[in-house]
Amino acid sequence: MSKKAFIFDLDGVIVDTAKYHYKAWKKLANDLGFDFTETQNELLKGVSRVRSLEILLEIGNVSLPEGEKTKIMQDKNEHYLQYITKMGQEEILEGMYKVLLYLKKNNIPFSLGSASKNARLILTQLDLIDLFDAIVDGNDVSKAKPDPEVFLIAAQKLNANPKDCIVIEDAIAGVEAANIAGMTSIGIGDKKALNAADINLDSTAELTIDMIKELIKN
Ligand code: BG6
Ligand code: MG
Repeated sequence: MSKKAFIFDLDGVIVDTAKYHYKAWKKLANDLGFDFTETQNELLKGVSRVRSLEILLEIGNVSLPEGEKTKIMQDKNEHYLQYITKMGQEEILEGMYKVLLYLKKNNIPFSLGSASKNARLILTQLDLIDLFDAIVDGNDVSKAKPDPEVFLIAAQKLNANPKDCIVIEDAIAGVEAANIAGMTSIGIGDKKALNAADINLDSTAELTIDMIKELIKN
């Protein structure tokens, strides 16, 4: 039996940063003269920063020159970072710290596989960065999820065969990317939206150590 490896998405899997992304995008939308709801924010989950802005502008029916887009993306990120830099370990999603520690203690390799360019900063802020065997984030890829690039690079860094990798994701694009990569996908959240996942869980609290043991066995 070849060795299993785990790849974790960050936002919505390890920590709930979606609420901070939402606050920052909402302010930007309001500054541009339109509203942005929490339901609409679902569309931005798992999506790169550039694509998030495009979706937001489509919602507001606003078109902007490229230079202006770059500037407001920077403003949005600065606003977002004000929340991120105040985050602590108490914001790690339920059960996830235990899972990461279990994997570490049992020498099961794991990587981050995130679209965020702030991933390293967030993991440092949460004091989790040293636990990871590899980190692949928005700075390391040229193609965003649902392209499998981020997960394939992670598998390579872990020296793992993609079919032995288990991906934990909360976004539709992320589950799709894992499936295309030929990995086992675990979808956290809305079962209907994430029905392409191999395994569905309502929340991270359901990702128990017993489940991890089963996944390693199979
Ligand atoms: C993903 C989030 O993990 O990262 C998206 O789910 C976000 O909502 C994307 O847009 C990019 O994040 P960042 O931190 O580089 O702006
Ligand atoms: Mg996510």
